[in-house]
Amino acid sequence: MEGINVLSLFDGISCGQVALERAKVCVNNYFASEIEPNAIKITQKNYPNTIQLGDVTKLNLSELPKIDLLIGGSPCQGFSFAGKQLNFNDERSKLFFEFVKILRELKPKYFLLENVKMKQEYQDIITKELGVEPIQINSSDFSAGLRPRIYWTNIPILEWKDKGIKLLDILESNVEEKYFISEKKKAFIKRHKVKLQFPRDKAFTIPAQFWKQGKQECRNLILDNGAWRRFTPIEVEKIHTLSDNYTEGISDTQRYATCGNGWTVEVIAHIFKGLFNSSPITSTLPNGNPNGEFNKGLEVSATPTPKSNPTDLTSPNPNIKEQEKETNKAIRNKIKELEKEK
Ligand SMILES: C[S@@+](CC[C@H](N)C(=O)[O-])C[C@H]1O[C@@H](n2cnc3c(N)ncnc32)[C@H](O)[C@@H]1O
Repeated sequence: MEGINVLSLFDGISCGQVALERAKVCVNNYFASEIEPNAIKITQKNYPNTIQLGDVTKLNLSELPKIDLLIGGSPCQGFSFAGKQLNFNDERSKLFFEFVKILRELKPKYFLLENVKMKQEYQDIITKELGVEPIQINSSDFSAGLRPRIYWTNIPILEWKDKGIKLLDILESNVEEKYFISEKKKAFIKRHKVKLQFPRDKAFTIPAQFWKQGKQECRNLILDNGAWRRFTPIEVEKIHTLSDNYTEGISDTQRYATCGNGWTVEVIAHIFKGLFNSSPITSTLPNGNPNGEFNKGLEVSATPTPKSNPTDLTSPNPNIKEQEKETNKAIRNKIKELEKEK
């Protein structure tokens, strides 16, 4: 069966490719532009047929066949509220303009660009460049983790419902000792007054520096049988709706980092389902544009309204399960204990 040709810029661990597979989009060639060796290793382990093209600034586009779908999430530090609030002059954010340049040159029928929430003025620049209004989706509607992200796409996004997945649904049992907080680390936390944050029914956004966050804060600590621990790499994969051990083969730190950079697969798969409209899921793309040319207005539907708001961890969830109540109570007690010790 004939499939589509995909070019994925800033491909990372190829969450885009996993999402295409999950959405059952038939892919002919998947070209990836990525420079980080660990990420490439994981992609090639899972998808050996991926054609790695290297640095996005050095692509020879004339060698590529017609590209039907261009996807990417350029490095976001320059845009990020969590970063230093840099801007388009930041070297990393400049990479976004590579996406725009390639989009204009290749004119794929469909495109998808993802990024973090950013200053409205930066968002407006991206919107102007791409010609479609962004849509905000919080991964929490599709997974056990919070991850508010902005998507610019001309794929019509179907409405979705909150899948109601809770953190407790994905936690592992009998976790290895190394993931528990050592007494030494606890002493460090106290000494440096590290801000602790305990997730409730959803994990906080997993950053690329997960577990390397240092002195300021320690997010995503959970209580497991009365002891604190961090997430295991498999739990982080589950939070990103990747299959278990997708990133196995590199160090734990690298697994956290590549996942923390990655997409929530189920969110992207949901967006890709819009490629089919009413066609059977194993079919190739509908012929929306006779020239196969990128067209701003192409089949973009109205922005869907999410069925639920992103989970607010500051307010109690009325549907919280008994087990979660117990966990939260234990967490609060631990925090009180820690505060008393100060
Ligand atoms: C935010 S991450 C995207 C991750 C990807 N969406 C995924 O699901 O794994 C940005 C990626 O851009 C890559 N990158 C940075 N500079 C690049 C360049 N010049 N060419 C290609 N990729 C680059 C980084 O190594 C990183 O993996």
